[in-house]
Amino acid sequence: MDLKKYIAEIENFPVDGVLFRDITPLMQDGKAFREACDALIAFALEVGAEVIVGPESRGFIFGCPVAYALGIGFVPIRKPGKLPRKTESIAYDLEYGSNELHIHADAIKPGQKVLIIDDLLATGGTVKATIDLVERLGGEVVGCEFFNELMELKGRDLLKGYKIKSIIQYD
Ligand code: PRP
Ligand code: ADE
Repeated sequence: MDLKKYIAEIENFPVDGVLFRDITPLMQDGKAFREACDALIAFALEVGAEVIVGPESRGFIFGCPVAYALGIGFVPIRKPGKLPRKTESIAYDLEYGSNELHIHADAIKPGQKVLIIDDLLATGGTVKATIDLVERLGGEVVGCEFFNELMELKGRDLLKGYKIKSIIQYD
């Protein structure tokens, strides 16, 4: 199936100059969404993930089905004011803004093999901040995977030394 045709393109969203890649048409189609999740699951098995970590909110959409399929846990990375217990936090920049990300301080066991999943790799700011939080808690990042990758923003340059996988690439 050509999964790219299920990704909508919206110009100047959420700010001028950004071409937004919208995954909601893919999510609305059961067969396409399942095929996308199956592709992500294959990499999760290959790297021996013991827990999936996903950044709010689109990382939840792809990360949770993968965790369910492998029968492993899912740890949410959240924006400020959302996690109720003690957190570690980090400031970060993304393609169209900046913010802070949090993780529960007891969410990762030392040495646990972590796979980070998000819908899209752009500048890499979000995933790099997520890696830093996981490593601060003693987790071992065994890979990062994305459904979409925007090649011209060179997110991979921030991720040297990590196994990176994307299902669909845009030049
Ligand atoms: C989007 C996307 C990634 C991030 C990628 O999240 O889901 O997490 O941007 O950009 P980067 O590689 O430049 O960091 P966003 O912060 O818009 O939040 P959302 O998932 O809640 O829409
Ligand atoms: N997150 C960062 N850049 C994005 C883009 N161009 N489309 C969708 N999500 C994004």
